[in-house]
Amino acid sequence: EAPPCTLVIFGITGNLARIKLVPALYALYVKGFLPETRIVGFARRPWDDATLKRTMEEALKGQTLYREDRAASFLTTMTYHQATFDDPEGYRTLASRLLPGGEVIFYLATPPQNYPEIIEGLGEAGLSSFEGKPVRLVIEKPFGRDLESAGELNRLIRRWFGEEQIFRIDHYLGKETVQNLLSFRFGNGIFEPVLNNRYVDHIQITVAEKIGVEGRANYYEQAGALRDMVQNHLLQILALTMMEPPLRFEAEAIRDEKVKVLRALAPPQPREVVRAQYTAGVLDGAFVPGYREEPGVDPSSTTETFVALRTEVRTWRWTGVPVYLRTGKRLARKVSEVSIHFRRVPHTFFWEAPLEPGENVLVVRIQPDEGMSLRVNVKRPGYRMDLRPAWLEFDYERSFAEDLPEAYERLLLDALIGDAVLYTRADEVEASWSFVDEVRRGWEEAGVPIHEYAPGSAGPREARYLLSREGRRWRIL
Ligand code: BG6
Repeated sequence: EAPPCTLVIFGITGNLARIKLVPALYALYVKGFLPETRIVGFARRPWDDATLKRTMEEALKGQTLYREDRAASFLTTMTYHQATFDDPEGYRTLASRLLPGGEVIFYLATPPQNYPEIIEGLGEAGLSSFEGKPVRLVIEKPFGRDLESAGELNRLIRRWFGEEQIFRIDHYLGKETVQNLLSFRFGNGIFEPVLNNRYVDHIQITVAEKIGVEGRANYYEQAGALRDMVQNHLLQILALTMMEPPLRFEAEAIRDEKVKVLRALAPPQPREVVRAQYTAGVLDGAFVPGYREEPGVDPSSTTETFVALRTEVRTWRWTGVPVYLRTGKRLARKVSEVSIHFRRVPHTFFWEAPLEPGENVLVVRIQPDEGMSLRVNVKRPGYRMDLRPAWLEFDYERSFAEDLPEAYERLLLDALIGDAVLYTRADEVEASWSFVDEVRRGWEEAGVPIHEYAPGSAGPREARYLLSREGRRWRIL
């Protein structure tokens, strides 16, 4: 029996709460996983309980699990606490809304510029613990915008909160298929022995999106694809794919191994980075504006909406294995995947050449079509010894009756019960920012140009050269 919880969501009037957090809490509630919970929405707008409930009811209507009576009883757990984030009074009165004898979780879902005042407000009001028990603090991305600001934020938080109280969100870690990277690697005897520089030719990580900046120009102009996606999601996928086996399946042991990988990343040479922006064009039969024409974007902006780079993890296991990362908006389709490309056989005695190097590949499909595929050579039927590539397939949908839960369901549940396995630690965040800062410094010093690509394409052609000049190819988007 989990103890009762109070979950305070700062910024409950924002998009994230409406689109992700509240629907995820509702799903946990309906599935019977939500401990006895009081949800307090903390924000500036002059709403009251009724406005909050009405707004959230609307948000839940689109959910597959929506049922009027269930939603109504779920919504009774919610109340609204109106205050500005810099008003000490708002934090003092917050204390009276916390369930006695329970756990307390503060969730920061505001724009990042509000984090410092909220953290200070909580700290000054003595809310880093409640009834003598440490509270938990969940912090959304972006966690800083470079190593310096991330370090500053970490230091500020630590004035009041211990590291074990801090839950930094990377919603990719809440995805089943990202967690499956650990299950397939460490739950099977057959993959680990070949996942190293003796057998692997190279690794590709792709997170492609079809959407553009979607009205988030304010944030995105200051971020760009490198900060928005690589620093967090791609590097977390990389860390899970390439880390050593942890001592135990437990937060500290796992994060100890991830941080080693992040620290071993070799920054790319300027010629190993490709940056680009999408231009105007036609996508699925509709005209879409170019990045520089999006509302709120500077017409001469040099913020990248696509980035591809080559790096390497300089460890005993991985030195010499190129790792290619790419991510972008307005690409051909939405797909996130990791592919591990194996070397070719040392000696061949077949008539027809087996797969080219790197075409013997293990693909982990994070989304959509969640699953895994292994491309192997098989004998083609007939009287000759011809080889042909074929796929060994595993597909979540076909193999399991259960639906894959939304990332935020798992993450919120873990925050409520205090399990930090799927949250990033201060040193991980700092190690990934330090890599990202070096990439940026490199491109600023060398003046790496910003290329263009058409919406619905696989990115700029320069990204192809990144691999083709080393005799390799990206997986088709
Ligand atoms: C977010 C980025 O972290 O991840 C967005 O800020 C991006 O720009 C999103 O669209 C992608 O997440 P998902 O789960 O849709 O792949």
